[in-house]
Amino acid sequence: MSVKVIVGAQWGDEGKGKITDILAEKVDMVVRYQGGNNAGHTVVVGDKTFKLHLIPSGVLYPNCQCVIGNGVVIDPEVFFQELETLKAQHIHVTPRQLFVSSLAHVILPFHKQLDSQQESGRCDQKIGTTKRGIGPAYTDKVSRCGIRVIDLLAKDRLASRIRSRNWPAHLPGITTLDVESVIEKSYELGQRLKPFVVDSSLFINEAIDLKKNIILEGAQGTMLDVDHGTYPFVTSSNPVSGGACMGVGIGPHKIDQIIGVNKAYVTRVGEGPFPTELTDETGEYLCARGAEFGTTTGRPRRCGWLDLVVLRYAIRVNGLTEICLTKLDVLDGLKTIKVCNHYESPQGILKNFPLDLDLFSQCKPVYEELPGWEEDISNITSFDVLPQNAKNYIRYVSEVAGVKISLVSVGSRRNQTIHLLTL
Ligand code: GDP
Ligand code: IMO
Ligand code: MG
Repeated sequence: MSVKVIVGAQWGDEGKGKITDILAEKVDMVVRYQGGNNAGHTVVVGDKTFKLHLIPSGVLYPNCQCVIGNGVVIDPEVFFQELETLKAQHIHVTPRQLFVSSLAHVILPFHKQLDSQQESGRCDQKIGTTKRGIGPAYTDKVSRCGIRVIDLLAKDRLASRIRSRNWPAHLPGITTLDVESVIEKSYELGQRLKPFVVDSSLFINEAIDLKKNIILEGAQGTMLDVDHGTYPFVTSSNPVSGGACMGVGIGPHKIDQIIGVNKAYVTRVGEGPFPTELTDETGEYLCARGAEFGTTTGRPRRCGWLDLVVLRYAIRVNGLTEICLTKLDVLDGLKTIKVCNHYESPQGILKNFPLDLDLFSQCKPVYEELPGWEEDISNITSFDVLPQNAKNYIRYVSEVAGVKISLVSVGSRRNQTIHLLTL
């Protein structure tokens, strides 16, 4: 039995969906612990591509139970749309497989409008949010005026909480939302959600007591964490491993492994500093080979070299026990591969991620250059047959970052995976 946390070690889109799906083959339960449908987790099986936003990435295995934890913000309309999309792809998910925490907060139409309005109002500090209402829903949660799944089930309480939120006052002249019809619609959605709703902390702790194998699946990534990321260019939740305990309601001592998912290079969507960003043809090469377009918004992702300052920080703040190195195949064909070891800054050489964002914005990467490889590695399934320079690259990352690499991914499909250790 084991409880594993899967956490993004960069700015999201590291391949958490693929890694969760691979590991989910041998687990009983996958739980999402934060974020919402700002996430886009891709799982490719044969010629089918599944894009999961809210539903945990264990869903393709009929015997794997999937739970949306209390730390997630859930848009009920998106939840049902996602079930429909899965059904169209012949994945029939029932309330016997999928469970939703009664304490998860709900994204209402007003949150989405507010997200868009706030984005357009931030002149020089745009965050580039996904406009899914994530920030406003978490804001209401912390302000103690949010609506939870449990509230959707009690009509009087729902009505009084929605009325007291009084959003037309926050969106003067913009909202066309009628409060009473939102109450009706939310209640209706609550009735449809009802069969899926559980006391998720109880449910998950019982599974742990029964010695089940469980994955806690993070969304976004360490550098988008509202506490530990590049604030304010972050999301509004805690993707770091500590967020997993809060977001599912288990004690920290129940966690056995913390697996960081880390691309062999770095991408970022939205605004914010990114020292190793490449705006030249190498950046375009990575973007094109890696098909780096947002799973949720379709925006092109900014691409750059691997940043070991960021990786070491992710190892520290998450307590990573190992990493999965993904998208190594994207580096095929490069003569030289650069890796950032430390930064040059107005305060001298920095080996640790600086918490002052202004200083971080001025950091220049200092690179180590490693020889690349010509070969196509996307069909290799064993470390031994990788080109020597690819092996050297993997060893270099492991040694210099100071972390064990337990899996290397060389393509989006399940079999495009090199297991280095038994996870
Ligand atoms: P997530 O949000 O962390 O789950 O990552 P995304 O799904 O948003 O983005 C990762 C993208 O890379 C998806 O299109 C995956 O299918 C794809 N992918 C995952 N692992 C690999 C890999 O090792 N090689 C390549 N070429 N693509 C991969
Ligand atoms: P997955 O789980 C990459 C980014 C947005 C924006 C910032 C805040 O697929 O890795 P938000 O809508 O959360 O308020 O936006 O966070 N962002 C992501 N970037 N992957 C994600 O999820 C992301 N979820 C949010 O682009 O910069
Ligand atoms: Mg993604």
